[in-house]
Amino acid sequence: MTNVARSSLRRFTTQAVRQATVSYAAPAAEQVNQYGIKVSQAQGTVDALTGAIGNTPLIKLQRLSRETGCNVLGKAEFQNPGGSVKDRAALFVVKDAEERGLLKPGGTVVEGTAGNTGIGLAHVCRSRGYRLVIYMPNTQSQGKVDLLRLLGAEVYPVPAVAWENPENYNWQAKRHADRLLKEDPEHGAVWTNQFDNVANRRAHVETTGPEIWSQTGGTIDAFTCATGTGGTLAGVTRYLKDVSNGKVKCFLADPPGSVLHSYIQSGGKLKEREGGSITEGIGQGRVTDNLKNEVGEIDGSLNISDEKTIEMVYRCLDEEGLYLGASSSLNVVAAKEVAEKLGPGNTVVTMLCDGAYRYADRLFSGKWLESKNLRAAIPKHLERYIVLP
Ligand SMILES: Cc1ncc(COP(=O)(O)O)c(C=O)c1O
Repeated sequence: MTNVARSSLRRFTTQAVRQATVSYAAPAAEQVNQYGIKVSQAQGTVDALTGAIGNTPLIKLQRLSRETGCNVLGKAEFQNPGGSVKDRAALFVVKDAEERGLLKPGGTVVEGTAGNTGIGLAHVCRSRGYRLVIYMPNTQSQGKVDLLRLLGAEVYPVPAVAWENPENYNWQAKRHADRLLKEDPEHGAVWTNQFDNVANRRAHVETTGPEIWSQTGGTIDAFTCATGTGGTLAGVTRYLKDVSNGKVKCFLADPPGSVLHSYIQSGGKLKEREGGSITEGIGQGRVTDNLKNEVGEIDGSLNISDEKTIEMVYRCLDEEGLYLGASSSLNVVAAKEVAEKLGPGNTVVTMLCDGAYRYADRLFSGKWLESKNLRAAIPKHLERYIVLP
């Protein structure tokens, strides 16, 4: 190739890239869905931290896609500013309280949570100028308490008692908010009540569902994920069922110890709870208000063992470079099983809820794996990732 040809090719390529970038970015930035929310694959400048929540990439899991002949895709929720899918719910419950006039500048958000919702709320509250009070069971690690405190929250670890007990951390959170509201009505206080406040589900109807539909160009055949509050599964199911006229199939992925698998399998008759699980943030003993309107529309459910989940933590790391927490890995196992069930050519989407960072001292510890009888679930060729004693 001559120098002239080479330089005109370079000029053409640069122009083409520039044009491609401009013509890609402009319509995406203006694309607004029926809820008034920008849904795009690439964000421009955002006004505040809360603008960086959502619009996460959809990652093709290459090995599992090859093995199943399907497109197995994972929504990279670990890329949210607080590191998990719960940032979306945190933003929507706070926005909902603002819209209902319950929170004014300088007001206080109170929640009962031991995990990601608290972290999401802490970021959202700092960004919007609210105080945050968290109640959690005192069985949680000091690391979690410290993290929430260093993110600016006031934390109350309280004895771990059942939901029905008035001293359960959720009811203590509610009473704290009621008390503050009486003392300081001018600034307001709200118990955000993530389990039964349907603003949580709305986050996924208005953002996660539309993002998945747009990112797959409407070619998604099935969606599956586990539930904690049920907000993600219910919200995404609602949107995908509506937009596809019921064509997209939606499946619950359930860990041992949760009652929802038996509930769905028995058509709502049974609530059997068997065993427990290493997964955190998922598994449920009841049908929450977030889930109740969609539970009848779920096409089926899968019960995923801890053995399969832990193996997938290691597989995703080795095969995809994805450092995932256990709930995400359980979701990936479910996506693989749904893909196998539906057969080659289908597109199956799941949620990569958070990374392994907060769980590494357990998931990659030989002693911990042995204590849970999970050491044998790690295939020989993946044992080199068990790097902690
Ligand atoms: C790590 C993780 N995965 C999954 C979930 C479940 O999401 P949802 O509450 O929307 O059902 C949670 C909820 O806290 C979580 O922390």
